[in-house]
Amino acid sequence: MQVWRFFKPDALGFTFRLVRQTLIDRLTGAAPLPLRVRDFVAAHARRGDPQDVLKTMDRFAREERFLMNIGPEKGPLVRELLEKLPSDARILELGAFCGYSSIMLADTLGSAGRIVSLEVSGASVEGARANVDFAGLSGRVEIIHGGSTETIPSLEGSFDLVFLDHWKDLYKTDLQAIEAKGLLRPGSIVVADNVGPLFGATEYIDYVRNCGRYDSEHREATVEYSSVPDAVEISVYRP
Ligand SMILES: C[S@@+](CC[C@H](N)C(=O)[O-])C[C@H]1O[C@@H](n2cnc3c(N)ncnc32)[C@H](O)[C@@H]1O
Repeated sequence: MQVWRFFKPDALGFTFRLVRQTLIDRLTGAAPLPLRVRDFVAAHARRGDPQDVLKTMDRFAREERFLMNIGPEKGPLVRELLEKLPSDARILELGAFCGYSSIMLADTLGSAGRIVSLEVSGASVEGARANVDFAGLSGRVEIIHGGSTETIPSLEGSFDLVFLDHWKDLYKTDLQAIEAKGLLRPGSIVVADNVGPLFGATEYIDYVRNCGRYDSEHREATVEYSSVPDAVEISVYRP
């Protein structure tokens, strides 16, 4: 990722807020963010109510500390794609963080849908599992602890939707690994978050638009909980 993009005029306010919050966390020895969110959810949300859990995480992100959730601005862009999927759809997510998007996807799909989420950070796995459980959705969401490069080869079957939301530099190689493992079927939808100007995922965008296996669409949006321009790339697999 090219860090200078975070210092462009339209991102400066966002960047300074993030740097200030990160410094305060370091200086105060704050607990890992996903565990703080877990405790905040347990203290303030209604157990078994996924929408209230999401709203409580949004409140934490606005009032306490920025969270890199898909968030309420971009979430609907992903949610509307689920209308095209069967009710027993399988979704693969790369990057669970606090479980926000897992909860959003599982709640939208309904009881027959299944989410498999790969997450490299132990604190995120712990926080996301707790939040998914608090929302009453642990029967629909499996969070696998491990880096995507190591865990993708262990996956079986095919997925109706793949949500790429981990480290941006891995989007292209991980999508290629997903293809090579046969985890996509014709018509599978691949959604990549954070492909806007701040993150510069040009290699990934170039791949899905020009490899000849996807119909790809760019949807402009804003970075979660901010007005900084961002985008989501929605690519339908047509091998
Ligand atoms: C943007 S956050 C995910 C947000 C989440 N999808 C949501 O919307 O609620 C990115 C997450 O990806 C995880 N991550 C980064 N690289 C990874 C990798 N190679 N494999 C699995 N997870 C990874 C990070 O630990 C972090 O929790």
